[in-house]
Amino acid sequence: MQIIKNVCDIRELIKAWQAAGETIAFVPTMGNLHAGHLQLVKRAKAVANRVVVSIFVNPTQFGVGEDFETYPRTEKADQEKLIADGVDVLFLPAVDDIYTVDARTTVTVAEVSEWYCGASRPGHFAGVATVVCKLFNIVQPDIALFGLKDFQQLTIIRIMVRDLNIPVEIMGVDTVRESSGLAMSSRNGYLTDHENQVASELYRILCVARDAILEDACSYNEVENQAFVALQEVGFKPDYISLCRSCDLKKATPEDRDLVLLAAVRLGKTRLIDNIYFSK
Ligand code: PAF
Repeated sequence: MQIIKNVCDIRELIKAWQAAGETIAFVPTMGNLHAGHLQLVKRAKAVANRVVVSIFVNPTQFGVGEDFETYPRTEKADQEKLIADGVDVLFLPAVDDIYTVDARTTVTVAEVSEWYCGASRPGHFAGVATVVCKLFNIVQPDIALFGLKDFQQLTIIRIMVRDLNIPVEIMGVDTVRESSGLAMSSRNGYLTDHENQVASELYRILCVARDAILEDACSYNEVENQAFVALQEVGFKPDYISLCRSCDLKKATPEDRDLVLLAAVRLGKTRLIDNIYFSK
């Protein structure tokens, strides 16, 4: 596996691959790789000749008081995992390689960036969209893969790619879960043993809410309210639990068929998100 830190060097390599007619799959990450990331790499290998993974803890997607400084950086272990998984290139830029000090341009996907996680993390999705757009311009992949766990992020990236005519296919990959049901996340490492047990209740409560919706047991609002209370009862501080249409994350109506139930909670000092998508 080649490790490339510099934008000019990766551009040169990409050009050579493109000239040879090779297809490129790209997995952008912030490192601290777990089974969920490795599932993205596995899919990437299956759909293209070459796989590029980036590790870049992107400062612009962290708000004031969030965990940018303490975000787990596990470079050596990450590299070993990527080598074992047959990745061609690890792109490892420094902050100065990605952001010039006098940068004036950001990418904002209106409306949907302000809902759900965007409401409690102002500016977060502009940071994500901007860095992903820049990484796409650098790596110029044919396909880019993202976890369905970050459903709102994936939706925003799909809209950005459509609106800006970026020539890349976006592929969503299923969430990988612990045997307890807890969705894999780099932030799970912040949880204490007790919190880890409570954390698995998030997916269970999402499943109960999904089943109530499928059974038409009560109105969507009632399901959301009951799930919110259930989250509180097991010890979470819920941020939101919302039933949306999966195409654009607008509030679901009874006419919508493809649905996603999005949730975010706080547990101690950790913020957890998860979702469940299904058809009715
Ligand atoms: O999902 C992530 O790890 C990040 O938000 C991403 C897409 C790599 C952008 O920094």
